[in-house]
Amino acid sequence: MTNNRKILKILKSKPTIEGAGVRLNRAFGNQEAYLLDPFLLLDDFHSDNPNDYIAGFPDHPHRGIETVTYMIEGKFEHKDSIGNKGIIQSGDIQWMTAGSGIIHSEMPFQEKGLLWGFQLWCNLPQKSKMMNPRYQEITKNEIPVVTVNGSEVRVISGEINGIEGPVKDIIIDPEYLDVSVPPMTIFSHKVKTGYTTFAYIMEGEGYFDLDQDTFVKDKELVIFKDGDKITVNTKEDSVRFLLISGKPIKESIAWHGPIVMNTQEELGIAFEEYRNGTFIKQVT
Ligand code: CO
Repeated sequence: MTNNRKILKILKSKPTIEGAGVRLNRAFGNQEAYLLDPFLLLDDFHSDNPNDYIAGFPDHPHRGIETVTYMIEGKFEHKDSIGNKGIIQSGDIQWMTAGSGIIHSEMPFQEKGLLWGFQLWCNLPQKSKMMNPRYQEITKNEIPVVTVNGSEVRVISGEINGIEGPVKDIIIDPEYLDVSVPPMTIFSHKVKTGYTTFAYIMEGEGYFDLDQDTFVKDKELVIFKDGDKITVNTKEDSVRFLLISGKPIKESIAWHGPIVMNTQEELGIAFEEYRNGTFIKQVT
């Protein structure tokens, strides 16, 4: 028997300033960290005004988490402490495991035009927080596009109709889909029971539960209750959303800025190491 997930909560994203002065919308963050476990944060950068994004995110450290950057339009350049450098272009995704520590910069690689992308932070469990840093860099044409009853799904991680996304072997066993549902269409998708599941609406509007109690629109976040399926349906407008789920970690969260550990003591050590230059660990 299938059990359609109902809506637990709808949150509206909040204008936030990050990095060296980037204006973005935060779908969730610190306040919702336990509610959305294993996810920590989702930022939506979306502007065609260079003043909103040009300052970028100069050198900063990460430890204890994974950051997932998905570009819809525009380009970001990243450079890091272990010698990686590259440009994330429209439609590309970068899944970065900071693990024991990385220092990187993330800067817009354009001076004008539309920049639209998302950064999701996934937590790591205690046993993996100090793992070696790694990347999975996936270009647009490596991401399968699957059509399901009229809806179009970009499969970044997870599986739909037997088609698997290219991002694999991630600790929290995530599913990350970019779903476009045309008007007057129903989209149903199986999700794992017990996994935290949310939808972030990128464009348009639709109903995100079978009861059709609440219409949800762009820049809103739907957090689902438990169940093994989600059902979205549209009326006269289409809707495009990120559908993301993952296995909860259920550990204590000690979070300051770009570093997320289990205890305040571990946080203290991380910032002390950043100050004295021992933050970056030898890769073993
Ligand atoms: Co970063």
